[in-house]
Amino acid sequence: METLLLPINGESLEKAAQLLKNGEIVAIPTETVYGLAGNGLNPDAVKKIFKAKGRPQDNPLILHICDLEMLNEIAVDISPLGLKLAEAFWPGSLTMIFKKSGIVPAETNGGMDTVAVRMPKNAYTLDLIHKCGFPLAAPSANLSGLPSPTAAQHVFCDMNGRIPLVIDGGVCDCGVESTVVCFTDKGVKILRPGAVTAEMLSEYCEVEVDKTVTHNIKTGEKPISPGTKYKHYSPKAEVFVVECDDDDTFRNYVNSLTEDNIYVLAKEGKGINKPILPYGENAEQEAAFLFSSLRKSDELGAKAVYVRAPQKDGIGLAVYNRLLRAAAFKVIYL
Ligand code: TXA
Ligand code: MG
Repeated sequence: METLLLPINGESLEKAAQLLKNGEIVAIPTETVYGLAGNGLNPDAVKKIFKAKGRPQDNPLILHICDLEMLNEIAVDISPLGLKLAEAFWPGSLTMIFKKSGIVPAETNGGMDTVAVRMPKNAYTLDLIHKCGFPLAAPSANLSGLPSPTAAQHVFCDMNGRIPLVIDGGVCDCGVESTVVCFTDKGVKILRPGAVTAEMLSEYCEVEVDKTVTHNIKTGEKPISPGTKYKHYSPKAEVFVVECDDDDTFRNYVNSLTEDNIYVLAKEGKGINKPILPYGENAEQEAAFLFSSLRKSDELGAKAVYVRAPQKDGIGLAVYNRLLRAAAFKVIYL
């Protein structure tokens, strides 16, 4: 199949809407990462998403909506807290897990009795959902296991020949996937951290962070979010997360390494004697650079990538969570 890569505009969105209405799948931009979208209420379209990504069938998809009317069609027993958080953070990078209604097919949510819902921030994407009139199921538009795509070119690399259309909406603002929460007696539990941080959510309710955010799931254990048990975000290079107190310790450590083909994810100008992959000065920038730099490490044929562990608060927790998975939980403590 030929894969078109079209800039985002009225014409390309019209084409995307037609394809989606015909049960096809299309890659679309969101403010977090690119999504591989299909009609979330159509089991055949959803099956195409799983096939194109090579995604395990039991890993449920997020439904993307454009208004609360759509939320009420796909979810039931929506709590006042759910509505409050929707008002505070939608459109935006918050995915909430609700009890599902009867119209959500088992193919979309892995046969669970819940459904994950988010209203993305990209105005064009909201318009596209509106044009379609149904929620778009959309996982990140990468091949399963690879770093999530934060630019249309990343999607094209993974999906060329597998899907009919990639809509290019430029580089994603945020760079890491949405915060996924489920509801608890007193508030929410973060299953996957993102740009809507624990600190932001705690303005509204009690916030717990699920232990799988920073710990590997044990064999046989059943996570609340099936996605947490799979290897994720991994480039071909081996990734090492280095936990240390300051930049000097990190620099001295990576400068002392003697193997060939080692890259370091770091801001330029920190005295590092290895080739650098772009990274940020603060956690927001690190989130924005993370996946594209992991992808670049593959293009460069890197054997290993070293990166200093971030602070674990704010969006830093999301960066740490993705790094731990990219590194298959290999952390070097100095
Ligand atoms: O930012 C994002 O969330 C992006 C963009 C495209 O919106 N999407 C995304 O989707 O990251 P995906 O499929 O790569 O990740 C969805 C995560 C997975 O970890 C999945 O297991 C979890 O959400 N999830 C989905 N439905 C769930 C449910 N009903 N219960 C628990 N976890 C759920
Ligand atoms: Mg993903």
